[in-house]
Amino acid sequence: MSKNNKIKKRYDRIAPVYDSLELLMEKGKMGDWRQNLWQKVEDKIDKAGMRLLEAGVGSGKNIEYYPEDLEIYAIDFSPKMLNQAEKKAKKYNKEVNLLEMDIQNLDFEDDYFDLIVTSCVFCSVPDPVKGLKELKRVLKKEGRIIMLEHMRSQNEFVGKMMDWFNWVSLYTWGANINRKTIENIEKAGLELVEINDLMSDIVKEIELKK
Ligand SMILES: C[S@@+](CC[C@H](N)C(=O)[O-])C[C@H]1O[C@@H](n2cnc3c(N)ncnc32)[C@H](O)[C@@H]1O
Repeated sequence: MSKNNKIKKRYDRIAPVYDSLELLMEKGKMGDWRQNLWQKVEDKIDKAGMRLLEAGVGSGKNIEYYPEDLEIYAIDFSPKMLNQAEKKAKKYNKEVNLLEMDIQNLDFEDDYFDLIVTSCVFCSVPDPVKGLKELKRVLKKEGRIIMLEHMRSQNEFVGKMMDWFNWVSLYTWGANINRKTIENIEKAGLELVEINDLMSDIVKEIELKK
């Protein structure tokens, strides 16, 4: 089985219980981080009809925060996660185009989006540099990518622990805890506009441009 299919199947498997497993985290810091992330997105909206992509929408935990009056697309390669996201769109009465699509091979034309948002996605995209290059391709010249991502610590001891225990989250969840996301962003040729550490140097809110 290809690496892509393996990760996709892991998310399909976990989709029905995904929200319950992460409930405590969401009620704690993660909920606040999401709110701040979407406030940052709101602050970037300066005209009607802007186009936004949420890449790796998962079970749709961000959907309740989607701003009004934008053309919103949300994609994921796991059909079962998308089913959960569809329920959230109905629950929160949000208009969103939910599509099954691979971040590494986006079916959108170049320079299409004003804003792109990801949260906890680049830990699991099988080829993260390829995925980031695709986001860069579909982002407008003056557009912004806003991310909430966890990554490998640069602390020598903590980083090594994350390497040793990576297999646990990879095999249960499909997510890596030791991705070098800042390095990957640089390899993809994206430019860092702002970076804020939210939990040590592991969880970061990041703003990028092309
Ligand atoms: C850890 S979940 C996070 C979901 C959501 N963004 C959130 O904040 O709860 C990662 C999601 O990314 C999706 N994903 C990973 N690699 C992908 C890819 N190459 N293309 C599309 N979706 C992908 C997974 O299917 C999963 O739903």
